[in-house]
Amino acid sequence: MIKKVYREGGAYSSDMVIDEVSVSVKRLTKNYGKITAVNDISFDVLRGEIFGFLGPNGAGKTTTIRIITTATKADSGEVYLNSFDILKNPLEAKNSMGVVSQYINLDMELTCKENLIVHGMLHNMKKRKILERIDYLLDYIEIKDKENVQVEKISGGMQRKLMIARALMHEPEILFLDEPTVGLDAHSKRKIWDLMVKINSENKTIFLTTHYIEEAQQLCNRVAIINSGNLIEVDTPENMIDKIGIIALDVFNHDDCTTYFFDSREKALESASKMDGKIIIREANLEDVFLDKTGRRVKK
Ligand SMILES: Nc1ncnc2c1ncn2[C@@H]1O[C@H](COP(=O)(O)OP(=O)(O)O)[C@@H](O)[C@H]1O
Ligand SMILES: [Mg+2]
Repeated sequence: MIKKVYREGGAYSSDMVIDEVSVSVKRLTKNYGKITAVNDISFDVLRGEIFGFLGPNGAGKTTTIRIITTATKADSGEVYLNSFDILKNPLEAKNSMGVVSQYINLDMELTCKENLIVHGMLHNMKKRKILERIDYLLDYIEIKDKENVQVEKISGGMQRKLMIARALMHEPEILFLDEPTVGLDAHSKRKIWDLMVKINSENKTIFLTTHYIEEAQQLCNRVAIINSGNLIEVDTPENMIDKIGIIALDVFNHDDCTTYFFDSREKALESASKMDGKIIIREANLEDVFLDKTGRRVKK
């Protein structure tokens, strides 16, 4: 298993090797009445990787993350965190995880610093340690100057970063983030990506959910594709794309578009030369993988 490593300038490249299991999910199922939100899914998250859960709205991403982080219970199945059963050892589990939920759940009337203090107290941290961590983390997420500002007065991007800082207060080994960049502008999104890569480079495992193809493809060592509660595939983005063909040929015919895949640009060009209509040759991406496996697009 190869790890992506951040390089100055924004490119992500590969080195380091990862193998140990950090989170093990076995045959998890959860129903809400007649809706099966999560349908018998199993996967492992490896220590030190950025693992992505990619799927459209309603796929079961939040439900899965909520089960793993003990916010809700599964109907059946098991979850192990560092080999501990989360239901039998909830305290160990809670202390080794930091959670950033899908929706902003900061206390808007409190200052940035006060929000972090509350979290530290809930985790029974010593006062000195709390203040030390706050100093470090506000600096780390580059909002030190907002320390004493009410949360409602800072931007959405800063609020997300503050939620990440809060989740890191008690120094968890694994960070869970549910759609961490939804609703953010391109610049703030990039800042959050950089922050996730920085956190990961300090040996923390990251589990994130997303419906952004680019986010999964750029950031994640491995991706699980989830659709209607079913786990479709788990692999590196590169392997998934290799399997369908790295070059895509979109052939437009009136309003229809048919996509063909090839393992080289030469083969794609050769086929294109025999076709009529508007044709686009491009690199295949995870959206193509998703479409290939499910017949639908991640984003409508
Ligand atoms: N508390 C709930 N009560 C009833 N249905 C729910 C609840 N939470 C989620 N669902 C349903 O379960 C499915 C999966 O939802 P969710 O896990 O939130 O998906 P995602 O996070 O991928 O958008 C959806 O059909 C959703 O409507
Ligand atoms: Mg969700």
